[in-house]
Amino acid sequence: MRSSSFSAFQQQGYSASIFLRRKDKLEKTQQKCIAIFGLLCGFAVLSALIFSSVDIWGDDDGITEENCNSDCRIELVENIPEDLLLPIEGRPRLSLSAGFNILLDQAKRSVEVVSPVWALNPWDLETTPSTAKQGQLLFQRLLSLKSHGVKLKIASSLTNSPELKTLAAHKAEIRFLNMTALTRGELRSSFWIVDRKHIYIGSADMDWRSLSKRKELGLVLYNCSCLALDLHRVFSFYWQLHDRDYIPSIWSKRVTALYGRHDALELRFNSTEASAYLSTSPEVFCSKDRTRDVDAIYQVIQSAKTFIFISVTDYLPLVSSTFRGTTITRYWSLIDEMIREAVVLRGVQIRLLISFWKKTHPLTFNFVVSLKSLCIQLHNCSLEVRFFSHKEQKEDFQHGLNHNKYLVTDNALYVGNHDWVGSDFARNAGVGLVVKMKNSFTDRGVTVIEHVKAAFERDWRSRYAKSLQSNKDQYGKYRDPLQNKIHMDTKEESKWNDPLSL
Ligand SMILES: *[C@@H]1O[C@H](CO)[C@@H](O)[C@H](O)[C@H]1NC(C)=O
Ligand SMILES: *[C@@H]1O[C@H](CO)[C@@H](O)[C@H](O)[C@H]1NC(C)=O
Ligand SMILES: *[C@@H]1O[C@H](CO)[C@@H](O)[C@H](O)[C@H]1NC(C)=O
Ligand SMILES: *[C@@H]1O[C@H](CO)[C@@H](O)[C@H](O)[C@H]1NC(C)=O
Repeated sequence: MRSSSFSAFQQQGYSASIFLRRKDKLEKTQQKCIAIFGLLCGFAVLSALIFSSVDIWGDDDGITEENCNSDCRIELVENIPEDLLLPIEGRPRLSLSAGFNILLDQAKRSVEVVSPVWALNPWDLETTPSTAKQGQLLFQRLLSLKSHGVKLKIASSLTNSPELKTLAAHKAEIRFLNMTALTRGELRSSFWIVDRKHIYIGSADMDWRSLSKRKELGLVLYNCSCLALDLHRVFSFYWQLHDRDYIPSIWSKRVTALYGRHDALELRFNSTEASAYLSTSPEVFCSKDRTRDVDAIYQVIQSAKTFIFISVTDYLPLVSSTFRGTTITRYWSLIDEMIREAVVLRGVQIRLLISFWKKTHPLTFNFVVSLKSLCIQLHNCSLEVRFFSHKEQKEDFQHGLNHNKYLVTDNALYVGNHDWVGSDFARNAGVGLVVKMKNSFTDRGVTVIEHVKAAFERDWRSRYAKSLQSNKDQYGKYRDPLQNKIHMDTKEESKWNDPLSL
């Protein structure tokens, strides 16, 4: 009895000591676990910081995909140079500079801007038109944002811009994208995001010329946080490429596209049911689920039933790349193909308005004549091309330049940052916006599509839009089809070998 109780006691002591030892072990394992967990946490936070440093501390106003606003107001904004004689009726209700100023009036927390150029202050005020002041005023407003408690964030590929330096000195946050290292291209994107609610996308740059002597077209969307959220993801993508010389293969979910050509955002523009999504270029700049610009253009052309009106500065279906110092140029068929198919096989009427200016590539005329010749001897086939050209100004060839980059059809609209040049889509960064209307032309009333169509028709019928003279036996005529004084000398043609001139 005693011995058994003693052994029981011993056993108890034994199990107690086992228990203690186990407890000890357990604690050690727990400590290990905690240490490992801590390390993992640290790693997770670190990788989150690396891949998505932007939004972590959330200055997003609590706007998410779930609670964002898709009851938007849309406005066409244009800049029409003072000395272009265009009829009043096709003119926009809102000028581009008024649009930018309204956007700045709305700003309460943040303004995010991407622009290929920063030149809002003209060098020489004497020779510039009085409207050049618009650029200076805009610059002053951007400088004073900080003092109104509004953050200004800029993504840019410019290394030595005096204006960006001034803005940085006024507490703007500026991040640098080395486009040479990333894509061997340029940053051509041009858009604004205000308070993650209002946005601008269009052809204008932060250049005083865009607000005075160049013809520009863009869209301003108010109270449209769903789309603004998605455009902010494009901005975040740029933001995270800051000072990198490669494009990371793993990206945070915060740059994944919210909407695209297969799942467009359903929304309302001025109370009309519509859908919309964003697209980007080049392909390596398309984060997960992001639609490429060319696929967006394809979808818009593909869904056109009766007409397609295109207004771009340059049209050139070529892509050139430099490999070990040798430039290789290839035919880039993507858009050319879409146009041919639409006009010949679907009987859609096509009008192409291209600018004729100092940098028009001579082969443009050959490609355009080739497109036009498709309709020879075909009924129900209509493809017209006109060249927009303003009077020549020796000192500034951008004067009166039609800098538009859009496409409008009977049911949709695409406004982008690129001209229709293969090399642009292949290498340069740009953004596009697709807008589609739900109802047919007749029962939806006047929408932004009608406004853009009216703007196109105004330009098309203007004195500045001239057709090619089909003088097919004289090749030289194509070289100077408008018999206008702009002379393309051999120097201009030899630029062809220089990829950057494309
Ligand atoms: C950009 O990248 C290129 C090529 O990697 C490099 O030569 C150049 O110095 C970089 N520029 C800047 C400003 O970092
Ligand atoms: C945005 O919506 C709010 C509330 O509906 C309205 O008060 C405001 O005027 C709108 N802003 C713009 C620029 O339309
Ligand atoms: C011409 O094209 C329209 C579509 O734009 C089509 O409805 C019509 O049937 C076509 N006519 C012929 C003869 O192909
Ligand atoms: C949308 O409504 C605003 C006024 O609320 C107007 O200024 C604008 O022109 C309209 N846009 C279109 C495309 O009709």
